[in-house]
Amino acid sequence: MKAEDVKKITVIGAGDMGHGIAEVALLAGYRVAMQDVEQRFVDRGLTRIKESLDKLVEKQKVTAENKNVMLGNIKTFVDIAEAVKDADLVIEAVPEIMGLKKKVFQALDSAAPKHAILASNTSNMSITEIASVTERPEHVVGMHFFNPAVLMKLVEVIKGDKTGEATVQLTYDLALKMNKVPVRIEKDSIGFAYNRINAPTQILLGLMVERGMANPEEIDAKMKKIGMPMGPYELMDYVGLDVAYHGARYFSDRLSRDYEPPGWLKGKIDAGELGKKTGRGIFDWSKGRPEIDLSKAKEDFDPTILIAIQVNEATKLLEEGVVKSAGEIDKAMASGGGSGFGPFQMARGIGYDRLAKICEDLAREFGVKVFEPTETLKKGNI
Ligand code: 3HC
Repeated sequence: MKAEDVKKITVIGAGDMGHGIAEVALLAGYRVAMQDVEQRFVDRGLTRIKESLDKLVEKQKVTAENKNVMLGNIKTFVDIAEAVKDADLVIEAVPEIMGLKKKVFQALDSAAPKHAILASNTSNMSITEIASVTERPEHVVGMHFFNPAVLMKLVEVIKGDKTGEATVQLTYDLALKMNKVPVRIEKDSIGFAYNRINAPTQILLGLMVERGMANPEEIDAKMKKIGMPMGPYELMDYVGLDVAYHGARYFSDRLSRDYEPPGWLKGKIDAGELGKKTGRGIFDWSKGRPEIDLSKAKEDFDPTILIAIQVNEATKLLEEGVVKSAGEIDKAMASGGGSGFGPFQMARGIGYDRLAKICEDLAREFGVKVFEPTETLKKGNI
């Protein structure tokens, strides 16, 4: 099968990511099926797609007529077998729990046509492990979108140990057809590129709150003042504290104990305060997006430390062969979020020796091994 042969896409999960991916597929002209475990979840996903398409009509990016065609191209399901029975590509976007992903992939494998590609939108998890429960590991691939999927350009295309090259190429080509910026992840490695590079900054952000060194509003105000569309704590709420928590646990179990989620984050999860989706998280979302008071900016917080940590982690991906080049990493980081720049582009302006020194100091101050500068960062000839 080639990308041109894909006509029907099924998305499993109608939540934040699932409904957004379904919308992206509709915008690219595909027939779409969207499935979730309860009717009220698919109904809510469909409403969110309609609301988002209305915004695009308002901005004249889509015509009202085209919107109606797209809404005629989507069907919703609760029954997973019905949803995938004639799919060419299935994209799974269920919660980040490995046992759940495996159950879903077993169901997909038995109900989807033999030629169908089964893709996971997992943020961090092993594609190889997910594929292991199917009879078609060569057709299982990672296709990782970013939130909000309709606006963020990056799609990471992840090759599991047994994923066929034809499957990777087809997925890459499909992401292009969806008007996205695909980046190949050559080695199935925890957090792939974007989330792996951001993960150690989450350690620091967690520790700063845990140790009372700053509060979230002060840091977010500072980051917004220097041009970020959203501060890092607001972004955690936006994506979901449950996603941050499960991600940190996964990193902690498989990469380093340094990633163990902080107590305050666990407290939020236990209290059901998951961020935007529940109306309260780090901030109050009950009246819409939180208003960050820029006058509270912590002026002595130097954002270069976040850049240093990111660049250092990015050098590990080069050392491990996860992504082919510094240029591809920059492309991924500039397209996945709101910053618009890649770590190596920023590093060249700041100087590798300065960044390595920052990482050394942070590792000592916080006792976090993950912050220690790599040999590649110290050499700096990237
Ligand atoms: N559909 C259509 N339009 C939308 C939309 C949607 N779902 N969401 C926002 N918009 C539009 C708004 O209507 C607005 O349009 P306007 O400019 O014409 O008024 C425009 O986008 C900008 O929105 P806002 O004015 O509300 O706010 P911002 O300028 O802050 O933009 C944002 C919102 C695009 C979300 C921006 O804050 C941003 O880029 N944030 C960072 C997002 C990010 O980093 N995402 C990656 C997260 S990590 C991840 O996803 C990994 C995964 O594994 C968990």
